[in-house]
Amino acid sequence: MSKRQKSIAVSEFFYKNRHLLGFDNPRKALLTTIKEAVDNSLDACEEAGILPDIEVRVEMVSDDRFRVTVQDNGPGIVPKNVGPVFGKLLYGSKFHRLKMSRGQQGIGISAAGMYAMMTTGKPVSVLTRTGARKPAYYCELQIDTKQNEAIILREDPAAECPFPHGTRVSMELQAKYQKGRASVDEYLEQTAIANPHAQITYFGPAEKVRGTVGAPPAPVSFPRGVTELPPEAKEIKPHPYGVELGTLLKMLQDTKAAGLVEFLTEEFSRVNVRTAKSIIAAAGLRDGAVPHDLDTSQADPLYKAIQRTAWHRLTDSALKALAADGIPAEVVAKLKALPVREFATEKAFLDACEEVVPKEDFRRLRGKLLRNTQEDRLPPPPTDCLAPIGAKNILQGLLKEVKPEFITAETRDPAVYRGNPFQVEVALAYGGGLTETCRLESESGKDGNDGPPKYGAMLYRFANRVPLQYQQSACCTFKTCVEDVDWKRYGLDSKRGGLPGEPMVVMVHVASVWVPFTSESKEAIADYDAIREEIRLGLQECGRKLQTYVKRRDRVREEGERRTKFLRYIGEVVDACAKITGATAEETEKLRANLLALANKKTERADLQFDQDGNVIRTPDKPEADAKPEAPDENTLIIEQNAAGAAVGTAPDASGAAEGTTPSASSGETLPELAPLSEAPPPPAEPTPAAPAPTPVKLGGKARGKAAS
Ligand SMILES: Nc1ncnc2c1ncn2[C@@H]1O[C@H](COP(=O)(O)OP(=O)(O)O)[C@@H](O)[C@H]1O
Ligand SMILES: [Mg+2]
Repeated sequence: MSKRQKSIAVSEFFYKNRHLLGFDNPRKALLTTIKEAVDNSLDACEEAGILPDIEVRVEMVSDDRFRVTVQDNGPGIVPKNVGPVFGKLLYGSKFHRLKMSRGQQGIGISAAGMYAMMTTGKPVSVLTRTGARKPAYYCELQIDTKQNEAIILREDPAAECPFPHGTRVSMELQAKYQKGRASVDEYLEQTAIANPHAQITYFGPAEKVRGTVGAPPAPVSFPRGVTELPPEAKEIKPHPYGVELGTLLKMLQDTKAAGLVEFLTEEFSRVNVRTAKSIIAAAGLRDGAVPHDLDTSQADPLYKAIQRTAWHRLTDSALKALAADGIPAEVVAKLKALPVREFATEKAFLDACEEVVPKEDFRRLRGKLLRNTQEDRLPPPPTDCLAPIGAKNILQGLLKEVKPEFITAETRDPAVYRGNPFQVEVALAYGGGLTETCRLESESGKDGNDGPPKYGAMLYRFANRVPLQYQQSACCTFKTCVEDVDWKRYGLDSKRGGLPGEPMVVMVHVASVWVPFTSESKEAIADYDAIREEIRLGLQECGRKLQTYVKRRDRVREEGERRTKFLRYIGEVVDACAKITGATAEETEKLRANLLALANKKTERADLQFDQDGNVIRTPDKPEADAKPEAPDENTLIIEQNAAGAAVGTAPDASGAAEGTTPSASSGETLPELAPLSEAPPPPAEPTPAAPAPTPVKLGGKARGKAAS
């Protein structure tokens, strides 16, 4: 038995357990490979301050083999690092730091290369260049899974290269290409939403129809929506509340600090000398103790002291507050006279109080004493390590990719879970193009005309700007959506245990220096109360805004329909009257004008537009100049729709954001054209199409809609 024991190489381990890294089946393998390469490209470009320009190419080699090529305009990789980056698992620049980034572990792209090699035997090829004046480096490499090392098969230190700087990685792998939910197409679309500063061009594979491979489809372009890079995320030190005992022990071993005070102040964020000394005292250790020499029995009290840091301080202002809160003056005086007026733990503070507060009063005054003297626990970690997408950029991203009629977004303030800063962003996009994409197939299996159309909202989940496409129901974003938010309160159709039955995209982005994924394949976010709370609050705020919009839109729409009905009959009524009374042409015209005015007055609401607070912002008799309504708020966009529910006008602005849409801040709605009165009225049975005419369900939309339910 003991003879058979031997160590296992990391790469061997991960090859056997490839499902842990997202390579469980050929379809997912294709997605994961592209995802790892694109995530790296985006990370590299952003770190180098370059607006990303990324090309993704998928070519079919045979039925079950595809070649994936991803090219970026990033900073490139120096030749000596190319081997380890692509051929060594657990090698990277992001693991030993606390900073928001897409990659973390250093197993992304090398795992993809390993999977490719194991399934096709083909090497990974890399072309990279660090600057226009530098030679480009090309190589083909394989991974030695036993040694966890790259084997360079071929290299060219002065290769021909079409780009001034950047990296192109290409590999052939066993894969399956299929559109729809959790597809490459969906991943790229969602990546474009969360990264509106990136330009992505996708060359999809030619598809096989009845045994013959067709021509490759036209490339799909996801144009840049904003030309500003996200703010640079700063690297931070761990916050004391976030470390576990094991991590603390390792940090004690690895530190260069000579003493404990130095260790605590230098290796952690938010610990100053005073705090460090109190923690050390509370742990029963010496300030000058050497970190390396601490064993578990000493590290444990240190760990506990950190967790318990609830500081009570009898500062002058705290003493004043105590007096104002009804603590007798003589007690306050005694507290002031205490030799020590700072207490690291609640117990130490109360023990000191018991000495000076009369016994019979102690229980009564305890709450007041605690309340007025407690300084914050350690201040929360700094939050400049986070780079949220920003509400405005989310609006741009959703506008250009999902073409809704209404979008509202919210970036919450940063918060903390287990000592790790995080920030939540949410958005709701509604109606417009989504009435097609979110439409569910009817019972009969056909796009039925039986009853009103049914919809299923889609949830777009992101962690550090990366779309999450698997394990939705295990993700805390989904749980918050279906368990914590009562969508009915916002007038939305809500299904038990599911997402709302609405033509809507719910977007949730969680950004953190350490996103708590439920597994290494980074598919779902773990269920932390603090995170859930932030998501819930954001969704509720967006829900309220959506409700206001939908209510007003429907009111205006109803009035518009009523008016159209009136108008249809006015012509007939006027003609009949003329025949009966024999009125002159002039009289008839007058009657027509009067009736028209009456109809317009009766349906006045149809012309009204409202601002966010429900105030009328446009009336028909106001001059045109006033007609352009103010934005309800800057985190909300309303895209005017024509009668058929399609976006009207074109506004291809410089940034190339939205084509075929006119983002407007109006809370109203463009009305159907009024029928010319001189014409014969149309048959009254035919209603004006207020809602979009039924359109066939797209494959992608159907699949996604189903998944949402
Ligand atoms: N396209 C690229 N441009 C520049 N550097 C890259 C690129 N791809 C990968 N790298 C470098 O290689 C490292 C390893 O990448 P990877 O295996 O995906 O791990 P991770 O992204 O988790 O760090 C990255 O940390 C980064 O420093
Ligand atoms: Mg990576």
